[in-house]
Amino acid sequence: MNNKFYITTPIYYPSGRYHIGTAYTEVLADSVKRYHNLKGEDTYMLTGSDEHGQKIQEKAEEAGKSPKQYVDEMAVMAKELWAKMDIQYDDYIQTTESRHEKIVQKIFDRFMEQGDIYKGEYKGWYCVPCETYFTETQLVNGKCPDCGREVKLMKEEAYFFNMKKYADRLLKYYEEHPDFIKPAFRKNEMINNFIKPGLEDLCVTRTSFDWGIKVLKDPKHVIYVWVDALTNYLTALGYLSEDDTLFKKYWPADLQVVGKDIARFHLIYWPIFLMALDLPLPKTILVHNWIMMKDGKMSKSKGNVIYPETLIDRYGLDSTRYFLLRQVPVAQDGLFTPEEFVERYNFDLCNDLSNLLNRTVSMVNKYFDGNVPKYNGNQNEVDEEFEKFTVEQIEKFEQKMEECEIANALQEIWTIISRTNKYIDETTPYGLAIEEENKEKLESCMYHLIENLRKIAILIKPFMNDTAENIFRQIGIKDEELKVWKLLKENDKIKNAKVIEKGEPIFMRLDPEEEIEYIKNVMKG
Ligand code: MSP
Repeated sequence: MNNKFYITTPIYYPSGRYHIGTAYTEVLADSVKRYHNLKGEDTYMLTGSDEHGQKIQEKAEEAGKSPKQYVDEMAVMAKELWAKMDIQYDDYIQTTESRHEKIVQKIFDRFMEQGDIYKGEYKGWYCVPCETYFTETQLVNGKCPDCGREVKLMKEEAYFFNMKKYADRLLKYYEEHPDFIKPAFRKNEMINNFIKPGLEDLCVTRTSFDWGIKVLKDPKHVIYVWVDALTNYLTALGYLSEDDTLFKKYWPADLQVVGKDIARFHLIYWPIFLMALDLPLPKTILVHNWIMMKDGKMSKSKGNVIYPETLIDRYGLDSTRYFLLRQVPVAQDGLFTPEEFVERYNFDLCNDLSNLLNRTVSMVNKYFDGNVPKYNGNQNEVDEEFEKFTVEQIEKFEQKMEECEIANALQEIWTIISRTNKYIDETTPYGLAIEEENKEKLESCMYHLIENLRKIAILIKPFMNDTAENIFRQIGIKDEELKVWKLLKENDKIKNAKVIEKGEPIFMRLDPEEEIEYIKNVMKG
C-alpha cells in the first residue's frame, strides 16, 4: 500500500467571495484526504491563491489598494472560509510569496536554456476575465469558448513554450498510464480537441502589464500565467530550494483535483512542463464537473449565487458538505436547487441516518439499560446476511473512493444505512423483547445495530466529521481504534459500550416550504 498521499487543489483566483461551486473543489479534496488519513496514510494537502495578472492588478486599483495588499487580504478571507468549512490543508501557498517567485524564475531560466522557450510575437484573441488567448478556430461564435464573453484581438512580443516538441511523448504517456486521467473520457477530449488537431505552442509571458514574476534575463516580460500558476504544486514542497525535504517525501502528487474549466491546462501543459523538468508526473489528475443552477452558471448578475456560509450558518457544515459531494457525480454536472437541498436534508440525513441512530439508542436504553450487549455471534440467517452485506458494501465504497467517484461512494454508505433500517423491520426487536427466551436474539440485534452505526460513522467521517463523532459519542464508542479503518470490517470488537441516556437527533426535520423560501430569498441577495 502507498503510505504517503500528496493531494492538491487548484490555487484560487482572489477575485471575490467564493460560492458553493468554487468551494466544491476544496471539499472534495479535503474529503479524499481525510479518507486516506483514516486508512493510516501520511497525507499532505496543498491549496492556495493564484495572485498575479492584469485582472488582479485592476481589482486592487478599484479597491484603492496595492496589488500585494489586496491579495493578502483576499488570502485571509479564503483561509477564513476554509476554516469554516473545516478544510484540513497542510500548506497554503500564495504565488506572490518569494519562496514561489524565486523558483519560478529558475524554472523559466531552465526552460529558456533548454530551448523549450523561444521569443516570438503573439497575436490572438484574448479573453480578459479568463486571462487566456484563443486562436480564431477555438472561438465559439466569435466569443470565448470557456465563458462565452467578448474577446479582444491583441498583439505583443512574447515568449512561447514549445509544446509541439512534447506532443508525442504526452500521447504515449496517456496510453501507458490509464490512471493518469480520471474520468477517462477527459483523456479523449484532450486528444481529439487539442492534441490531434496540432498542439499549439503556449504563450508564457506578457509585456502589457507588470503585476507578475519578471523574467530574469528579459525583465520587461512578466511570466504569465501557467508557468507561474502550475508550478505552485512544486514550489510549495521546496523544489529547487535549500530545503527540499517535503519535495523528496511527497512528489509526485498522488491526486490533483481540478475543475473541468482548467482541465486543458492540467492535462496538457502541466505534464509537459514536468517532462521538461525531468520530473515524474502525478499519479492521477481528477477532473470534476461543476455545480450548476437551473438557469446555468452561478453569477451575481443572474441573482442565483449561493454562498457556503448561507447554508452552513442555517443548516450546519456537515449537511452542506454532504449535499455538495452527493449532488455532483464528479463526471457530470450537478444541480443546486433549494428544493433538492431541503429534500436531501430531510430524507437522507434526517429520516435515514438520524432516525436510525435515535431508534437504536432508545432501544438499547429500553431493553438493556443503555449497555450494548456483547457480541454473541449470528443468531439466524438474517444476522449472517446482514453482516455479509455490510462488508460487501464497504468494499464497494472503497472501490468508488479509489476511482474518486465520491457521490457514488456516498450512495454506497446510504445503501448500508437503508439496509440497517430494514434490519430493524426484519428482526422486530419490539417483538423479541416480549419473550425472555428471545433474549439472545435481542442482544444480537442490538449489537448488530450498534456495530453498523459504528461502521457508518467511520465511513462518513471523511465527509462529515462532527456527525461521525456525534454518532460515536451517542453509541458509546470511545476507543480510538474502533473509530478508524483498521477494524472497520470486523464484527465482534465492541466491548463495554454504553449508549447515552437520551439520544439527541443529529438532524432535525426541516419545514420544506419555509426553508425553500428562505434559500430562495438569500439567493436573490
Ligand atoms: N487560478 C485558477 C487555477 C490555477 S491552478 C494552477 C482557477 N481559479 S478559480 O478560483 O477560478 O477556480 C478554482 C476552482 O473552482 C476550479 O477547480 C474551478 O473549476 C472550481 N469551480 C468554480 N466554479 C465551480 C462550480 N460552479 N462548480 C464546481 N467547481 C467550480 O481556476
